[in-house]
Amino acid sequence: MPDVFTVLRADHDEVKAMLARLADGPRAADGASAEQLAQRQQLLEEVIIEEARHEAAEQQHFWPAMQALGVDGARIAEQALEQEAAADKVLSQLSELSPGDAEFEPLLARFIRDARSHITFEEAHAWPLLGVEITQARAEELGEAVIRAKKMAPTRPHPSIPPQGLAQKAASPVAAVADKVRDTLSGRGRQQ
Ligand SMILES: [Fe+2]
Ligand SMILES: [Fe+2]
Repeated sequence: MPDVFTVLRADHDEVKAMLARLADGPRAADGASAEQLAQRQQLLEEVIIEEARHEAAEQQHFWPAMQALGVDGARIAEQALEQEAAADKVLSQLSELSPGDAEFEPLLARFIRDARSHITFEEAHAWPLLGVEITQARAEELGEAVIRAKKMAPTRPHPSIPPQGLAQKAASPVAAVADKVRDTLSGRGRQQ
């Protein structure tokens, strides 16, 4: 059974690979074709969905485990949750734009930069602290919980989100963005 760090690292690696592809372009200003811009938007939508699942699973299982460590764990969890909420806002704005819009690329560049630094923050500050405080068995139990949460990760109507607390505040907007993307993909958004 993989432990929570192995599970989260696989997600981070997947997201980092998608971010690298987004950072590579091609951009509208570089003369990208309509098809290339459509692929760019599609890739961004995949990142949004993956982020929504990953952050929701962290918010349900990882940050509560950090908060349970005491003052230091709670402080790091709070910072990380603020970063996730900020990224969520940027993704929400991005999901309203098309790759041809003037505001799209600056906002995407900001998201890429913030998402990379959030990943680094978690791996450099959160993981080492939790890693020394919990047993291997607990780390595997958390890993399983994260996998399960990601699989279920219903973005609508969000029954897996805890009813109260910090986690819910941060999780709901992310899930809402994923809903919006799914609506766009299914065409449902256009009918409203
Ligand atoms: Fe995170
Ligand atoms: Fe993460």
